[in-house]
Amino acid sequence: MSAFTGLRCAMCKTGFPSEALYVCDQCLGPLEAVYDYEAAGRTLTREAVAGRPRNLWRYRELLPVTGEPRTGLHSGCTPLVRAHRLGRELGVAELYLKDDSVNHPTLSYKDRVVPVAATRAVELGFDTLGCASTGNLGNSVAAHAARLGLTCYVFIPHDLEPGKILGSAVAGPHIVKIDGTYDDVNRLCTQAGERYGWAFANINLRSYYAEGAKTYGFEIVEQLGWRYPRHVVSPVAGGTLLPRIGRAFRELREVGLAEGELPKIHAAQAAGCAPVINALESGAEYPEPVRPDTIAKSIAIGNPADGHQVLETVRGSGGTGARATDAEILDAIALLARTEGIFTEPAGGTTLAATINLLEAGALPKDESIVVCITGNGYKTAHVMADRPTESTHIGRSLREFEAFMASRTGQPVHS
Ligand SMILES: Cc1ncc(COP(=O)(O)O)c(C=O)c1O
Ligand SMILES: [Zn+2]
Repeated sequence: MSAFTGLRCAMCKTGFPSEALYVCDQCLGPLEAVYDYEAAGRTLTREAVAGRPRNLWRYRELLPVTGEPRTGLHSGCTPLVRAHRLGRELGVAELYLKDDSVNHPTLSYKDRVVPVAATRAVELGFDTLGCASTGNLGNSVAAHAARLGLTCYVFIPHDLEPGKILGSAVAGPHIVKIDGTYDDVNRLCTQAGERYGWAFANINLRSYYAEGAKTYGFEIVEQLGWRYPRHVVSPVAGGTLLPRIGRAFRELREVGLAEGELPKIHAAQAAGCAPVINALESGAEYPEPVRPDTIAKSIAIGNPADGHQVLETVRGSGGTGARATDAEILDAIALLARTEGIFTEPAGGTTLAATINLLEAGALPKDESIVVCITGNGYKTAHVMADRPTESTHIGRSLREFEAFMASRTGQPVHS
C-alpha cells in the first residue's frame, strides 16, 4: 500500500537501498525517502482517507514502510483547535492550534515519528531500538519499544526534567544519562549504533523517522477541509518537524489532495538556543552551533541535524523566524492555558511566544490564517510554572466559611 520506492541523497540525488542508512557516502548529504507519487495518488484520495482509521497510518502511501504498521495505531489525528479566545486576545482573525500535547501514547509530536521508525526497525530485523533524546523522544521510543517487545536504550543529557526521565523509565528501557549536552549525547549514540548494530530512531533510522513528521502537516490540511493555511509557526530543535511540514504540503499537491498557494512556514526557537534564527538573520546556509541555556529543554539542541533543511524550507516558503525568552515562554504557557485550556510544555510556550513576537513585528499578518504548532504536554514539566502566582483558598467544610470567603471577595454581607 505504501508508494515508497527507496532512499535518495537529498543533495546529489544518488539512490540507496532501503536499509538503516541516513547519510550519503558520496557527498555526506542526508538521505530521504522517495515515493511513486502517481501510484500514491491513485489510492490516496479524500474519500479513501476519510474512510480509514483515525491514526497516522491513514497517509500510509506516503510513509516509508513496506509491510503492515506495527505500532502507532492510536497515534496522530490530534485536534486542530480553532482558538477563538486566544485569537481575540492577539487580534488574529483565524487562529488554530495543532495540538499534539494530546498525541497518544506519550503526549508529544514524537508519537508520529517513532511509530514509523519502530515499524521500520522491525521490518529491517533489529531487536534493539535506541535514541538520543531531549526527553519526549525517549518517552515515545520507550513506549513503542515496550509495545513491540524490543530492547530499548534511551540516551539523555543528565540534567533533564524529572517528569521526562520518569516518563521513559516507567516503560522499562535502559536509560543512559550522559554528562554533557544533547549534542554530546547524539555524538555518542552515532558511535554506539555502529559499535553494537542497534537501530537508533533519530540516527541510523532518521530517513524513516523524519517521514512520520509529515503526518502533522497532512492532518492540518485535511482538518481545514483540504485547504492550506496561510501561515504555520513551528518549533525547531533538531529540525525534523519543520521541513517535513513543508514536504507534506508539497506532497499533498503532488498527489492531487490539495491545491493553491503553499503556506509560509516560520521557525520558533528559545532565545537561549537559537542557532536557526541566528542563521536566518545572518543569511548563513548552515546554522552555527551554540551551547544551549534555556528552560525549554526539549528543544535545546545547539547543533540541529537538519538545520540546513529548516533554513531552506523557511526561506523557500517566504517565512521568517523569532526567538522567545524564558520569561516570554512562561507567559505564553499561562496565556494558552488561560484562554484555551491547553497546558503545554516550554516547547509549545516557545512557539506561541515567538508567534506573538512575529505578530508584534508585523511579520505575521493578523488577518490571515495562522496555525501554531503545540507539540508537547505541560503536565510533564509542570514544575516550570510552580513559581507563578495562582489563585486558591483553603477553608473548612461549612457553608458559613465559604460565605465568609465570598463576602471577603465581593464585599457583599453574609446572609443570615
Ligand atoms: C515538544 C517538542 N516540540 C518540538 C520539538 C522539535 O523537534 P525537531 O525540530 O527535532 O523536530 C521537540 C524535539 O525534541 C519536542 O520535544
Ligand atoms: Zn549525496
